[in-house]
Amino acid sequence: MDWLVQMLGLPESYLSKGEGGGVIQGSASEAIVTCMVAARERMIRKCCERLEGEEKERRIAQTKGKLVAMGSDMVHSASPKGALIASTLYYSIPVKAEDGFALTRKGLRTALKEQEEKGRIPYYCTVTLGATATCAVDVFKEIAEVKKEYPDLWIHVDAAYAGAALVCEEYQHHAKYFGEFDSFNFNMHKWLLVNFDASCLFVRHRHDLISALTITPSYLLNPSAISGQVTDYRDWQIPLGRRFRALKIWFTLRSYGVSGLQHHIRRTIKLGEFFADLIKGRSDLFNIITGPSFALTVISVVPPKKTEQQKLVNGEVNDFIPDAEQQHREEANAVTKQVYEAVNARGEVFLTSGVIAGNYAIRVVSANQNAEEKWVKRAFELLVEEAEKVHSQA
Ligand SMILES: Cc1ncc(COP(=O)(O)O)c(C=O)c1O
Repeated sequence: MDWLVQMLGLPESYLSKGEGGGVIQGSASEAIVTCMVAARERMIRKCCERLEGEEKERRIAQTKGKLVAMGSDMVHSASPKGALIASTLYYSIPVKAEDGFALTRKGLRTALKEQEEKGRIPYYCTVTLGATATCAVDVFKEIAEVKKEYPDLWIHVDAAYAGAALVCEEYQHHAKYFGEFDSFNFNMHKWLLVNFDASCLFVRHRHDLISALTITPSYLLNPSAISGQVTDYRDWQIPLGRRFRALKIWFTLRSYGVSGLQHHIRRTIKLGEFFADLIKGRSDLFNIITGPSFALTVISVVPPKKTEQQKLVNGEVNDFIPDAEQQHREEANAVTKQVYEAVNARGEVFLTSGVIAGNYAIRVVSANQNAEEKWVKRAFELLVEEAEKVHSQA
């Protein structure tokens, strides 16, 4: 895990030689809920320090009911699910297309103030490097400024997919402010050539995890644990037992080397750019909603142009109708869904979809080890064929 800190250009505070360290877990969802529990316990300790006995118990119960976790409305569902499991409230912060769907200082600050005005206690926030739907990146510099005003708010960086890109120096600027945050997680099994599952979680203060998750019954006591000679990862995670995931990570690192991993990331990002360029060349058929970003391009299909006769039937005089924008969106959503389903029904490539700010979207990612230019081109051709079919039927 210390090798990974160096390889990804993460802050030194995540190294095990200081107060931090890393632990390999099974999934980003597991990492998120683990951090939420640690954050919850840290906040409860803070709110109830110096109290004793029943008074303390009462205050703990009151505090628990007020705790709220948050994240932008682009975060993966693992965050609201984490709050569900940690049994706290959750608030989803709206983000805007004009900000690239990123969480900003203003967005976070407004949400924190709103929650406080409601009597709630914000204790945890997920920020994202590479949101699932769009690969959006939150504005870490601004979030780090807000963290200074709210030092007890646990900030977790969810980089489940795109964190792998940090292996290349040209993406490491994203990690510049991670030293201000409490934890960071990325899945090596998503884009960094390790078999499922290998989710790497790093914390700045391992004490936060250990003090929340340590329970030592007599049957787990042994001289090494008592002397502190070994790191007991059961205190850094939910289960007691662990798989030996470090071995497959070790094999991957030693087989590819850092340069091999960099080559893989750069090659697949380039393929994403190649796909986006093809799409740009057919602006009569497609719109790019976001990207290419970390090999992901998110597109919608342009609705077919209406004939003068159709416009007359619809009552669209001089191209003007009062709710033109809404109507255009509905038409685009319908044709995008139609093309998406038609391409997948052919069974040659399998694309995924999503809804971004009310827009139905097709998501194309080239981050697979076996991705090649010819397959990416073929996916584009299939999209063109099906979009042209829809246009010709209009
Ligand atoms: C940004 C992000 N976070 C979390 C997850 C959840 O990952 P896991 O299946 O490891 O829980 C995903 C999965 O796609 C993701 O893209």
